[in-house]
Amino acid sequence: MSRRHALVTGGAGFIGSHLVDKLLDRGFEVTVLDCLLPQVHGDAEMAADGWPIYLNPEARRIKGNILDDGVFESSLTGVTHLVHLAASVGVGQSMTNIVDYTRNNTMATAVVLDVLSRCQHSVERMAVASSMSVYGEGEYRSASTQGSLAPPPRTQEQLQHRAWELTRSDGKMTEALEPVATKEGKPLHPASIYAINKRDQEEMCLTVGRALGIPTVALRLFNAYGSRQALSNPYTGVAAIFISRLLNGEPPLVFEDGEQKRDFVHVGDVAEAFATVLESDKRVWEAFNVGSGQSVTVNSIARTLARLLRKNIAPQVLDKYRVGDIRHCFADISRIEKEFEFKPRQEFDDGMEELIRWVVTARKPVDRSASSLAELTRGRMVV
Ligand code: UD1
Repeated sequence: MSRRHALVTGGAGFIGSHLVDKLLDRGFEVTVLDCLLPQVHGDAEMAADGWPIYLNPEARRIKGNILDDGVFESSLTGVTHLVHLAASVGVGQSMTNIVDYTRNNTMATAVVLDVLSRCQHSVERMAVASSMSVYGEGEYRSASTQGSLAPPPRTQEQLQHRAWELTRSDGKMTEALEPVATKEGKPLHPASIYAINKRDQEEMCLTVGRALGIPTVALRLFNAYGSRQALSNPYTGVAAIFISRLLNGEPPLVFEDGEQKRDFVHVGDVAEAFATVLESDKRVWEAFNVGSGQSVTVNSIARTLARLLRKNIAPQVLDKYRVGDIRHCFADISRIEKEFEFKPRQEFDDGMEELIRWVVTARKPVDRSASSLAELTRGRMVV
């Protein structure tokens, strides 16, 4: 068998670096193309060569930006498998940096695909990182109708009344909707520039991949967590934020009533999902959910983390809305299970223990929850 060579854009990041480890383990040659964004890598411990110390030494490294002339094309030499992870990933930040986000996400993907369509290359397979954010609200059902629903976002008026759950009204009566696991077929209602960029990236890669005969998979990642997660930038997830608070002896600050549900998937499982779709020989051009298949509430994350950290600190429920938040979204993962026999393996508690070890050993995170809450409130992003 000829040597498999993977190019991982964004390979120095949280998800990319875990995938690099996995692909090297599986016998791939691996090249990382990364521009080492200061916003992402500011917290991480860097080696003398300017790359994060956690990055596998076996990987070949190219520091560069896909948008710069010739950078992507010259990184493609000998590459058989392409994974496009490089992106700007702050949901809130995307709403005030629209040009930057669209350039770094949509336009950079256009460059990747343009090179694939115009230049000589040896790429046989491609995968791109998408996000659960493409869905907007998750999938629901109601007692009175058959089948699933894709409700619009909650109204301002409803949120002002602190009526957190989704409802459906037919003029005569109002009924509560029940959240169910979200399937890939749910209509997409992206609610941020980031989410729109991700939907565009998916569609662009699937469409051009198909036209070029390169099997292409877009993975819609749910809430990924684990070691190497950046700890104090605008896209830090809720689990890392809560750990920082608890380590400082402060209660986790919970938006709404804390009963909103998410699907937390460990980065090891995310990396495994990418490796699985890359190694498969199935000729598909489709998007797949990657989650744990389990839903958890934000309150239960706060309680689990306090227990694992042996802190007797209850979460502080703010009864406030963070602008742009959806109420519930958790994954139906049967499509990726069926197509690729992929199953997430990490238990929630073990995964959270791993994240805690990382937070404790990584450079001390700056806990910005209190200051960022004040900032969000001033900017009317928390109401
Ligand atoms: C968002 C994106 C997702 C992205 C993820 C991590 C959407 C729909 N999803 O997910 O694509 O992968 O960010 O970048 O845009 N919370 C608190 N207290 C806090 C912080 C958060 O209660 O201090 C709550 C939030 O209100 C939310 C939940 O925790 O209900 C999860 O928040 P977060 O970790 O930011 O991720 P999402 O918004 O679900």
